[in-house]
Amino acid sequence: MSTAFPPGFFARDDESADGRFYAAPRLVTHIDDDAIAAVGELYDELGVSGSADRPTRVLDLMSSWVSHLRTPPAELVVLGMNPAELDANAQATERVVQDLNRDPALPFPDASFDAALCCVSVDYLVRPVEVLAETARVLRPEGVLVLTFSNRLFPTKAVHGWLAADEDGRCAIAAEYVRQAGGFAEPEVSLRTPPGPGRGGRYRGDPLYAVVARRLV
Ligand SMILES: C[S@@+](CC[C@H](N)C(=O)[O-])C[C@H]1O[C@@H](n2cnc3c(N)ncnc32)[C@H](O)[C@@H]1O
Repeated sequence: MSTAFPPGFFARDDESADGRFYAAPRLVTHIDDDAIAAVGELYDELGVSGSADRPTRVLDLMSSWVSHLRTPPAELVVLGMNPAELDANAQATERVVQDLNRDPALPFPDASFDAALCCVSVDYLVRPVEVLAETARVLRPEGVLVLTFSNRLFPTKAVHGWLAADEDGRCAIAAEYVRQAGGFAEPEVSLRTPPGPGRGGRYRGDPLYAVVARRLV
């Protein structure tokens, strides 16, 4: 992956305001149960939810009615496009409606979160490097960024560069977004669902990839 994204990379088939596309609430799940379980397991492994001794404040970017956390953290701030979806998120302690493609500046103080999550949504960002630079700003030193994604998406709203890439290419793209944002240690890329007997050795259900990076001290 080169350090510059080529012209047209962040174009989309549907360039209309995201508010239109996300106006109606979608109280659905976007990946299958095994992929959702893989997200929750990863969050547990990373200690995202904290504990009674170590309460955590967590930011779920591009959130909806579910954040896939098995245990709710002390504070969970959810940011997304649809107020009804965010209201239905039972784990949330604070809700922010914001179009990150229009305004990537996060309305939070520096170093105010222990973890930042973005599940099956990074492919819709047209200014991902700016959003992730902001995410680095609001994470405390050693706070963790967790990007997860599968191979399912809303094609008219995903950026063309993502649509054109295969699954390995998408992992490389997400990792490059993190590198270019700055402020993070080298991201770790992994496939969290088991490789299966499907075509190319891929898992038969929805694959779940993760790009994880720690905020530099
Ligand atoms: C496929 S859904 C994923 C929702 C949730 N993260 C999950 O794991 O189920 C995509 C989400 O991204 C959010 N989203 C899309 N475009 C956005 C934008 N420009 N700014 C902020 N959030 C956005 C939408 O509100 C929507 O809930």
